[in-house]
Amino acid sequence: MTAEWLNPLRDAGDRRLPRIAGPSGLVIFGVTGDLSRKKLMPAVYDLANRGLLPPGFSLVGFARRDWEDEDFAQIVHDAVRDHARTEFREEVWQQLAEGMRFIPGDFGDDEAFERLRKAVEELDGSRGTGGNFAFYLSVPPKMFPKVVKQLKKHGLASPPEGSWRRAVIEKPFGHDLTSARELNAVLHDVFDPEQVFRIDHYLGKETVQNILALRFANQMYEPIWNRSYVDHVQITMAEDIGIGGRAGYYDGIGSARDVIQNHLLQLLALTAMEEPAAFDAGSLLTEKLKALRAVRLPEDLGPHSVRGQYAAGWQGGEQVVGYLEEDGIDPSSTTDTYAAVKLGIDNRRWAGVPFYLRTGKRLGRRVTEIAVVLQRAPHSPFDSTATEELGQNAIVIRVQPDEGMTVRFGSKVPGTSMEIRDVTMDFAYGESFTESSPEAYERLILDVLLGDANLFPRHQEVEESWKILDPIEEYWAGHGRPAQYASGSWGPEEADEMLARDGRSWRRP
Ligand code: BG6
Repeated sequence: MTAEWLNPLRDAGDRRLPRIAGPSGLVIFGVTGDLSRKKLMPAVYDLANRGLLPPGFSLVGFARRDWEDEDFAQIVHDAVRDHARTEFREEVWQQLAEGMRFIPGDFGDDEAFERLRKAVEELDGSRGTGGNFAFYLSVPPKMFPKVVKQLKKHGLASPPEGSWRRAVIEKPFGHDLTSARELNAVLHDVFDPEQVFRIDHYLGKETVQNILALRFANQMYEPIWNRSYVDHVQITMAEDIGIGGRAGYYDGIGSARDVIQNHLLQLLALTAMEEPAAFDAGSLLTEKLKALRAVRLPEDLGPHSVRGQYAAGWQGGEQVVGYLEEDGIDPSSTTDTYAAVKLGIDNRRWAGVPFYLRTGKRLGRRVTEIAVVLQRAPHSPFDSTATEELGQNAIVIRVQPDEGMTVRFGSKVPGTSMEIRDVTMDFAYGESFTESSPEAYERLILDVLLGDANLFPRHQEVEESWKILDPIEEYWAGHGRPAQYASGSWGPEEADEMLARDGRSWRRP
């Protein structure tokens, strides 16, 4: 092995860094894409800069470009300069850059895959990668089968004795249950289930991992985390952005397939599941699956689900166009940019407690949160006017952007009368911790290299989630156009009516 440990941040005595990847390399297919430039390349650099990658770590790009290794290294360099979280250190960069290789080629090109195989062997020799490689498929899903088959054909999918090979795939994991099953069949024909890492970047977020810490490392929440105390749960993922330049991906997919099938149902599973027997991938899968399998759709989706599409409006002081006027969108498109649905969970803990999920683009502001709203106190000894303004107690996990948690409860207003009003108690990551959170992709790439599958949905969860979403999509497809909502608003009126029918209202985070 030629490279030596640099580990600048680790040497600085940082005690948070016990998990360091062993000898390994990462091959990225689709390396010219946005995700690769904005997330993957910077994450690799940040990991190296934090001392979490081995000194001989190697990065191989594969794409249809006429580049040399140096051109690729320059692209990575620019991406790191623009998007990395940690400061730029020349010596870290140099060490990383020495392990960069570029393979020009098409996914159907056998010679290119032979060159890839040789590059991997060469890196094992020159950088000490030990035969351990992860293949990151940052490519459109329709390309998955082709790439995966080529990996098999060229002997890249099976690890040499004593080493590992892993495949990393990005959503969408199909567009319904049938296609998800087909995709899984293709993957599992080449890789064992343990070799496949599906990225749901929400699981890489600190605040999402904290749901489990909050619930299972404390004594105060679990006793009330059930139908005896909880009135309902609201899971919101609101974005202020529109679809940007992603018309090709988004149209025909829509908000529910884009984020409910994966991110929101994962948040639901983590919020609703039972305590796992251990904090390992198998135990987490068992409990998440049980929760997802217990999800029940309303008998009539009509009054309990809404899909919407943003119309023109004002956002951040600027006038923005509606979805149908966006570049690349079919003006008669019925794709949803907003979706809300009421789900039940049929088990002893949650029977009768609705879980309301909603997501949308071009909403009032960017916020993701899980609000566990408690029932009202069964009785108040105070004059009813004293408690008039009192809302229900709530525990709100603020996933982003203002990471932390809020507990809402009633408190006496200072003064001579017994007036009670809502107050909040806040925990903010930025105030309680000096440690900075790694970006979700940093955490997830490191976990892939470590072979730690805790934060990766398994194919059973993916299929279970499609079983929940497919009937909803089917219902919508047969019931007219999505409701319109003004950009910058909080979604269609129909969504407010949906909750009002249940005597509840959406939070305005
Ligand atoms: C992605 C969706 O999975 O998540 C995008 O495809 C969405 O449409 C994005 O914008 C949001 O991610 P984050 O981390 O900014 O909440």
